[in-house]
Amino acid sequence: MKLAIGSDHVGFELKPIIIDYVKELGHEIEDFGPNSSERTDYPQYGKKVAEEVASGNFDGGILICGTGVGISIAANKVKGIRAVVCSEPYSAKLSKEHNNTNIVAFGSRVVGSELAKMIVKEWLDATFEGGRHAKRVEMIQQIES
Ligand code: RB5
Repeated sequence: MKLAIGSDHVGFELKPIIIDYVKELGHEIEDFGPNSSERTDYPQYGKKVAEEVASGNFDGGILICGTGVGISIAANKVKGIRAVVCSEPYSAKLSKEHNNTNIVAFGSRVVGSELAKMIVKEWLDATFEGGRHAKRVEMIQQIES
């Protein structure tokens, strides 16, 4: 997969660990910032990664802030984005299988690096099941339009 990643200053230290891990798994990944741990604002990075995914430039996105909450809310404001915030791998996997999420988010103040890797792996390995779930995702898309 070709992935986009972004964070805020709180997620900044975890981001390179996730980038290396995603590459180890054989995926491509591009970093949309920030490039330093200087205090910044998560909505701009959530929006940027979400726009890249929604436009089809990337197959999926990974977002990290303190809790994963703010940055996922920002991403979910972009049309076509279904971002999930996870603190365990089960929800990450099911969010892809049932909800066809295209962005996974987590919090560097909530999960450690090993748990974050497990979340990312489960999400990347999962596939949307379609079927009865497709109708429900379409219903979400109708709310959007
Ligand atoms: C920054 O202090 C913090 O609010 C942010 O990283 C994130 O947790 C927001 O949801």
